[in-house]
Amino acid sequence: MKLVRSIEEMRSLCRSARSRGARLALVPTMGALHEGHISLVRSARQKSDLVAASIFVNPTQFGPSEDFAKYPRNLESDCALLEREGVELVFAPSVEQMYPQGAVTWVVVEGLSERLCGKSRPGHFRGVTTVVAKLFHIVEPDFAFFGQKDAAQVAIIQRMVRDLNMPVTIEVCPIVREPDGLAISSRNAYLAAHERDSALVLYRSLMQVRKRFESGERNSASLVAAAKQVFAADPAVRLDYIAVVDPETLEPEAVVTKRTLVAAAGFVGQTRLIDNILLEP
Ligand code: PAJ
Repeated sequence: MKLVRSIEEMRSLCRSARSRGARLALVPTMGALHEGHISLVRSARQKSDLVAASIFVNPTQFGPSEDFAKYPRNLESDCALLEREGVELVFAPSVEQMYPQGAVTWVVVEGLSERLCGKSRPGHFRGVTTVVAKLFHIVEPDFAFFGQKDAAQVAIIQRMVRDLNMPVTIEVCPIVREPDGLAISSRNAYLAAHERDSALVLYRSLMQVRKRFESGERNSASLVAAAKQVFAADPAVRLDYIAVVDPETLEPEAVVTKRTLVAAAGFVGQTRLIDNILLEP
């Protein structure tokens, strides 16, 4: 496995692999790797000849009062993990490499970027699409792997790729959960023991939505009300949003008549967590 720091070197290694006929997969991450990331790497491995992972805590997707400074960083153990998983290339550029002084160009997926997390985290998705577009240009992967855990991110990246004719196939992998249902996240490391129990409220509220849906409820307002009741039972959790939306446009759906995304976000103490499920009538 090779750890690459410079854009030029990464581009030339990826180009020469592709010119040998290798199909290249990219797994973009911010590091602090866990089973969720590893599941993406394993799917990428199966689908391609060469797997590249990027590790870059992207400053432009964090708000001024968010956790950029304290976001967990452990490049050494991340690299050891990726090496064990058969990753050939790890791209870990510096902020200065990725954002040269005076950079003023952004990739913005309008509309979608203001929905769900985009509403409570202004500018977040602009940072995500900009850095992912840059990574696609540097690596030029045949496939790029993303987790359903960040359902809005998936919809926005798929739209960017479509709108800008990017020659990459987006592959989406299911949410990896702890045995009790909590969606695995790098931010779970922030949770104190008592907060860890409260964090499960997100998953429980979504399971309540699924239960109502399976017993025939199709009205989104009723499904949301059922989820909110679960949130209300634990005062340690502050609901940010729970929304029933089209998984591609992220626009609200009043009635569930087709494949529909139910996405939730909440604060447990200072820690913001997200989770979602798909309902299939
Ligand atoms: P990060 O939060 O590190 O996540 C990297 C990838 O892992 C994302 O595609 C995310 O959806 C996926 N992932 C995280 N937890 C998961 C879980 N429990 N199950 C399945 N997949 C999971 O998402 C980002 O980084 C950044 O926004 C990035 C795309 C790298 C751009 O900076």
